[in-house]
Amino acid sequence: MKPHVIVHCAAEKRLDIVENHPYSASLLNVGVSENLAKLAAGTGSFLIYISTDYVFDGTSPPYTEDSEPNPLNMYGRTKLEGERVVLQNNDGAAVLRVPVLYGNVERTAESAITVLFDQVLQSNKLANIDNWQQRFPTEVKDVASVCVQMAERKLQDPSLKGIFHWSGNEQMTKYEIACAMADVFNLPRRHLRPVTQEPVGATPRPWNPQLDCSRLEALGIGQRTPFRVGIKESLWPFLPLKKSQQTMFH
Ligand SMILES: NC(=O)c1ccc[n+]([C@@H]2O[C@H](COP(=O)([O-])OP(=O)(O)OC[C@H]3O[C@@H](n4cnc5c(N)ncnc54)[C@H](OP(=O)(O)O)[C@@H]3O)[C@@H](O)[C@H]2O)c1
Repeated sequence: MKPHVIVHCAAEKRLDIVENHPYSASLLNVGVSENLAKLAAGTGSFLIYISTDYVFDGTSPPYTEDSEPNPLNMYGRTKLEGERVVLQNNDGAAVLRVPVLYGNVERTAESAITVLFDQVLQSNKLANIDNWQQRFPTEVKDVASVCVQMAERKLQDPSLKGIFHWSGNEQMTKYEIACAMADVFNLPRRHLRPVTQEPVGATPRPWNPQLDCSRLEALGIGQRTPFRVGIKESLWPFLPLKKSQQTMFH
C-alpha cells in the first residue's frame, strides 16, 4: 500500500502505565513512531503524528510551536521523543499537538473528560473534583477535521510540515467540566465539590498547557465545536432512562 496520508494515533497514554513501564511505553510511543516515519518517507506518504500538550510544563501559557518543551512526566517525555524521531526521520512530516480529548465513546472511561460523567450521575455521592489544572477539552471530530484539512493542504503545498497546535478555546477545570455536563442535562450538581489545591502524590501534570493555535489559524485551517454542544452529543447515550421512557422502549 502507498497511502497518501498516515495519521499516527497509536500510543500508550495512561500516565501510570507509562511511569511504571517506561521501556514498553517507549517501544510504542517512540520506536513505532520512528519506524512509521521511515516507512512513510519511503512511500512518500504524508505522516501526521498526533502529540500532546503534556510536552509543556504548564507554567507559562500559552505555548506556541516554538516554545521550549519541558515535560513533567514520562508520558510527556516519550511523546516529545516521538516528535523528535518523526521529524528527524521524515523531512515532510507534521506533528499535531492536541490537548485533552473527548467525543463519542463506547464507555465513558475511554476519555478523561467523559469519565467525569459517572461522578455527575451519582448525585447521592459527594465527588471531589480538581479545580486547579486548566484544561481545553477538544472534540475528536474537530481534530479529525483538522487532520483532513492539513492533508488536503499538503497535497497542494508540500511546504506544510513541522509542528502544529490545535485546541478547543474554552478554558475549564475538571470541576467546571463536570458542572457543565450537569447543566446541559439539567442534572443536580450540589454533590460536586471543587478541589482548588495542587494535587499531591499523583503523577505530575502541567497546570495550564494552553496551546496557541495561530499557525494553523493563519493557514485558514481549523474547526471548533462549542464544548456544551459536543459534550451533549457524546454523553446523551449514557443518560439513565426514566421509568416512562423505559416503558416506551419496551
Ligand atoms: N486522549 C487524550 O486526551 C489525548 C490528549 C492529547 C494527545 N493524545 C494523543 O492522541 C493519540 C490518540 O490517543 P487516544 O486517546 O485515542 O488513545 P487510546 O484511546 O489509548 O487509543 C490508542 C490507539 O492505539 C492503538 N494501539 C495501541 N497500541 C498499539 C499497537 N501496539 N499496535 C497497534 N495499535 C495500537 C489502540 O488500539 P486497540 O484499541 O486495538 O488497543 C488504540 O486504537 C495518542 O497519540 C495520544 O498520545 C490523546
